[in-house]
Amino acid sequence: MAGPSPAKFPISLLLFLLSFTILTIMLLRNVGSLVLLQYVTSTLAATNSTPEALNPQLTNAIGDNGGPVLYYNGSGDVPPYNETSPIPTPLTPLNPSNETEDYYYNQILAIINSTESNCTKCMSTTNIMHEAALTQPVSVITDMLIRACSLTHFPIYATTCTSEFSGIGGIGPYWAQLYAKMNGSTGDYQAWCYYNYDTCSVPPTIEIDESFYFSPKPVKASIIPEPSGETINVLHISDWHLDPRYDIGSEANCSQYLCCRPYSTNTALDTGVSNASVPASRFGYLYCDSPPDLALSSFKSMPQFFDIEDISFAIFTGDIVSHDNDDQLSRAYIEYEENVTYAVFKAEMGNVPIYPTLGNHDSLPEAYNTPNNIFPGAGGKDNAFSWNYEFLSSLWLQDGWITASEAHGASLHYGAYAHTTAQGLRIISINTDFWYVDNVFNYFNFTNPDQSGILKYLVKELEACEARSQRAWIIGHVLSGYDGTNALPNPTALFYSIVRRFSPATIAGIFFGHTHEDQLQIFYDYLPTSLNGTLRNTNAIDISAPLTMGFIGPSITPLTGNNAGYQLYQVDAKTFEIMGIQTYFANVSESLTWTSPVWEFEYDARTTYNVNGTWPKTSPLNATFWNDVTYSMLSNQSLVETYNLLETKSSVVTKNCSTKACGAQKVCYIRSGSGGQGYACPYKDGPF
Ligand SMILES: *[C@@H]1O[C@H](CO)[C@@H](O)[C@H](O)[C@H]1NC(C)=O
Ligand SMILES: *[C@@H]1O[C@H](CO)[C@@H](O)[C@H](O)[C@H]1NC(C)=O
Ligand SMILES: *[C@@H]1O[C@H](CO)[C@@H](O)[C@H](O)[C@H]1NC(C)=O
Ligand SMILES: *[C@@H]1O[C@H](CO)[C@@H](O)[C@H](O)[C@H]1NC(C)=O
Ligand SMILES: *[C@@H]1O[C@H](CO)[C@@H](O)[C@H](O)[C@H]1NC(C)=O
Ligand SMILES: *[C@@H]1O[C@H](CO)[C@@H](O)[C@H](O)[C@H]1NC(C)=O
Ligand SMILES: *[C@@H]1O[C@H](CO)[C@@H](O)[C@H](O)[C@H]1NC(C)=O
Ligand SMILES: *[C@@H]1O[C@H](CO)[C@@H](O)[C@H](O)[C@H]1NC(C)=O
Ligand SMILES: *[C@@H]1O[C@H](CO)[C@@H](O)[C@H](O)[C@H]1NC(C)=O
Ligand SMILES: *[C@@H]1O[C@H](CO)[C@@H](O)[C@H](O)[C@H]1NC(C)=O
Ligand SMILES: *[C@@H]1O[C@H](CO)[C@@H](O)[C@H](O)[C@H]1NC(C)=O
Ligand SMILES: *[C@@H]1O[C@H](CO)[C@@H](O)[C@H](O)[C@H]1NC(C)=O
Repeated sequence: MAGPSPAKFPISLLLFLLSFTILTIMLLRNVGSLVLLQYVTSTLAATNSTPEALNPQLTNAIGDNGGPVLYYNGSGDVPPYNETSPIPTPLTPLNPSNETEDYYYNQILAIINSTESNCTKCMSTTNIMHEAALTQPVSVITDMLIRACSLTHFPIYATTCTSEFSGIGGIGPYWAQLYAKMNGSTGDYQAWCYYNYDTCSVPPTIEIDESFYFSPKPVKASIIPEPSGETINVLHISDWHLDPRYDIGSEANCSQYLCCRPYSTNTALDTGVSNASVPASRFGYLYCDSPPDLALSSFKSMPQFFDIEDISFAIFTGDIVSHDNDDQLSRAYIEYEENVTYAVFKAEMGNVPIYPTLGNHDSLPEAYNTPNNIFPGAGGKDNAFSWNYEFLSSLWLQDGWITASEAHGASLHYGAYAHTTAQGLRIISINTDFWYVDNVFNYFNFTNPDQSGILKYLVKELEACEARSQRAWIIGHVLSGYDGTNALPNPTALFYSIVRRFSPATIAGIFFGHTHEDQLQIFYDYLPTSLNGTLRNTNAIDISAPLTMGFIGPSITPLTGNNAGYQLYQVDAKTFEIMGIQTYFANVSESLTWTSPVWEFEYDARTTYNVNGTWPKTSPLNATFWNDVTYSMLSNQSLVETYNLLETKSSVVTKNCSTKACGAQKVCYIRSGSGGQGYACPYKDGPF
């Protein structure tokens, strides 16, 4: 099944014929369901003067296999923008002392007025917020945040300071929880002020005391299993980002976040919904999240390339919800998106199991997750995000992808679970928000690389696999390394040590999403000098000793200038090593000319990257292969440009990467499996 195959039957022709058949049946027998009616009206609309791409029908025009109806422009049962959500239980004692809001606020003003450095100002004001959060009611904290935000105009993801901190989607009550827990002795203020306000310098990456987490690496952990010669097919989908508020015909090349919405405008061109410079095609565009027809078409396109029944299982590496601002999100909206998305996946994939992982957009507020021990003794029951873990795990159970006990475990462990597939592979799905820079709850006890316990859970699962000689895949959403802008160094330093401890014998592959791009991450052994007494310097890696691959799957959403895409893997049936990868994509820059989304074969990894022709067909596309590819990239600029173009799924707006410096940076990113390693690469926005 490697490589492109000619389309079995053009989908548009099929739909055309189908619509006539349905229409005939309906006329003859006068029967009709809502779904059939939608089919007919949509296909008929294509025959009058409006191009199909701008057909204003507010439900999906392409078939849905009996899954839920998907809506455009917030119609149907899509929750409104201004839905309110419950707020978390306060951590403060709620018995205000005599000290007032003004007392604290005036201290902040005095600090802002002082001649101290911006870092000192930020750390001092955060310390005052900490003291206030310990003694004052939550409303005082949110009021202070709104006043400080209005005064200093620090960056927010909402229309106003009030709607950001206390109104719809208000994040102030969560910040009050965070402030109450912060402590300067663990570097929390500096970390917060670096990652959120870019005022302080970057905190140093801690060294890892591995003995605290696992036993020393035994010799057998370095044994590489022999390929079996047989393969199974596995589908990797990521970053679906369905936009049920997508407005057909609105401005698709806009100046703000998010385009293809009724309010989107292009300020440079002075255009908006009434005179869009690029009218939003109902099939999607480069700067917009996935409209219903594009999202659904990803599944509809598959029979052109392979049989869905030939897939053993699929992995979905997270992110369901659209990229709305904080004050447009609500618990109702998150639940709506999660509910319809998994219903679509189930309807389209039928009996093919899907193993999902939780993405940073699959929570409210976006990326927020609290460690269970934030309320000591509550055993996770009072976690402010339990509602989400319980809801998601119930959907996964209902769809038959994981067992009841795995779902129960996931509801208590931030959505994490481990499941053995019918083929014998252990899939370990972890919540990577605990290393994501946008989860504010990562900024207390900052020097603890595993405050949530999620990495201890991973170790426990890997130890059990090792004891059973079972191979494992780790799936997560936020990548652990690459350019260092997403992954916090301390938790991903520990993650790197875990990967190195259980590779290559136990870990057969690591799979992420998040960047929307088709990317790679290589994990290596450490240099002997990485050990300083009992502490590990996780930046001291040996690039001649590759161990394991991280595959970052391309997104369904085109957002940030990409095309839509997904990947099919051929996987060794016994070792679960990756033997082949094909990527399929939809070139959304052409979406205005489509009558339904057009999907194409993009590339086959072995064909494209085996540049010397020396890698045997029977050898997996493992870390050794990809490390060889990085050496080729350093001496072969056209290979760099190939990688660069494939990253965006061959988007027409791919940024140039024609210099050696850009190539060296890409290679550095590919060789970075932790935040600290990625951070050490040549600066991201450097001139190329
Ligand atoms: C989408 O909704 C907006 C109101 O939010 C409305 O003005 C616009 O006409 C709607 N677009 C379509 C295609 O129905
Ligand atoms: C939400 O918006 C609708 C109109 O779009 C309005 O009628 C309603 O009062 C608003 N609700 C809140 C809580 O602001
Ligand atoms: C801050 O400085 C401004 C003028 O620079 C002054 O008007 C204001 O009173 C000062 N505020 C405090 C709290 O010191
Ligand atoms: C400190 O912050 C102020 C306000 O944001 C900014 O104008 C100024 O340039 C900053 N100073 C430095 C040295 O970064
Ligand atoms: C901060 O942490 C230190 C060391 O763990 C501890 O002694 C101190 O009590 C903590 N301070 C606060 C305010 O929690
Ligand atoms: C989008 O608009 C910008 C101006 O804001 C313009 O420079 C750019 O060429 C446009 N891009 C496309 C793909 O239309
Ligand atoms: C687009 O329409 C808006 C609203 O009607 C108007 O203000 C603007 O001037 C128009 N822009 C152009 C380029 O015609
Ligand atoms: C999920 O969707 C189903 C229909 O597909 C509906 O019956 C159910 O109420 C929804 N649940 C939630 C919590 O939204
Ligand atoms: C902070 O992390 C340390 C381990 O680094 C742990 O011993 C301590 O209990 C944690 N503190 C809190 C308040 O959770
Ligand atoms: C070794 O660890 C000690 C602390 O245990 C630290 O002071 C020292 O800088 C480290 N040395 C190196 C080379 O990292
Ligand atoms: C990759 O596969 C080749 C060929 O089977 C093998 O020699 C090499 O050791 C493998 N590398 C890793 C890291 O598994
Ligand atoms: C191709 O050969 C060169 C020179 O031996 C080597 O550096 C590079 O890693 C090889 N690339 C691949 C993909 O095998």
